[in-house]
Amino acid sequence: MAKYIGVLTSGGDSPGLNAALRGIGKAAEGQYGMQIIGFKDGFRGLMENRSIQLNRQTLSGILTLGGTILGTSRDKPHKMPVGGKTLDMREAIVQNYEKHHLDCLICIGGGGTQKNAYKLVNKGLNIITLPKTIDNDVAMTDVTFGFDTALSIAVDAIDRLHSTAHSHHRIIVVEIMGHWTGWLALGAGLAGGADVILIPEIPYDIKVVAESILKRSRLGSPFSIVAVAEGALSKEEALAIKKIDEKIEKTEDKEQKLKLTSELAALRALREGNTMRLAALLEDMTSLESRVTILGHLQRGGTPSAADRLLATQLGTACADYIEQGIFGVMVAARGNTTKPVPLEQVVGVRKFVPTDHEWIKSARAVGTCMGDK
Ligand code: F6P
Repeated sequence: MAKYIGVLTSGGDSPGLNAALRGIGKAAEGQYGMQIIGFKDGFRGLMENRSIQLNRQTLSGILTLGGTILGTSRDKPHKMPVGGKTLDMREAIVQNYEKHHLDCLICIGGGGTQKNAYKLVNKGLNIITLPKTIDNDVAMTDVTFGFDTALSIAVDAIDRLHSTAHSHHRIIVVEIMGHWTGWLALGAGLAGGADVILIPEIPYDIKVVAESILKRSRLGSPFSIVAVAEGALSKEEALAIKKIDEKIEKTEDKEQKLKLTSELAALRALREGNTMRLAALLEDMTSLESRVTILGHLQRGGTPSAADRLLATQLGTACADYIEQGIFGVMVAARGNTTKPVPLEQVVGVRKFVPTDHEWIKSARAVGTCMGDK
């Protein structure tokens, strides 16, 4: 009997989502005769039962498109704003899953989506996920699709900033996305030849950064490119956050935990605008004029790179195979040249940070890039 498959895209969009939908749909329909239904706007569309049929016709011509033809949202099944309240909508989701006689639901997303999908596994649904995000921070997969495209966009931006920084003898601080991890800033900084790379995994000392820029200036290069991850922290900020984190870990008292959590959120919120402050501080400390470029959502838009199309297609077609074999409760991970189904328990709640002994960090240091710590 034909299987009925549901699919949704959730969280921030990422180049390669349409390639993944096409890979899943074409393989599931063409190889196994499955019927595929796409839910609009992430978990919200599933909860509100807004869907479209995905077949050869609807999936044709989307391989090269950025964004997602299904739309996306950051809505969570267990905490969804509905009619002015935040409600647990998992029962409504289960009902719609049953209404469509689904044999399986595919959730394509980043770390948050893996968590949300797991909450539906616990409601008895057959779930399989795919890892996508420009941040590359999903655990248990070598890489996520979207990362390669965003990396190229950021490198292209750094290349362009280089010539103007050079001409004006300026410091240009370029802020790169990546949420709490530094994969994008590190990769783009290294590939773009940034002079300073600041990532959350290595808290920085502003004096060290300023001195490295001054040293370049003394050696005849009175300009610098500083690639800073949006989540980068100074040593002082990292220490303050660590202290609160430790207190949260230790306390058993619920009220105290809530208080500390909002303290932590306030501290993190303070960090907004950090890149502007960093540039101003460096201008003061070096007497070199500074400018800021925030790449923002430019990094998520546009045509997916060949590497992202390949990865998304590979994970998508493998996903159809796993469904045919009845393998559920897993994320389809990229491992070397192949794919592996990884139990969602191993993925959920784990963020993949850049290891501080990563080869890219070693290489950056070896070519004289300042990583902000020494
Ligand atoms: O997770 C992808 C990402 O682009 C992060 O790099 C960034 O912190 C976040 O999403 C921005 O989210 P939004 O699009 O909701 O502003």
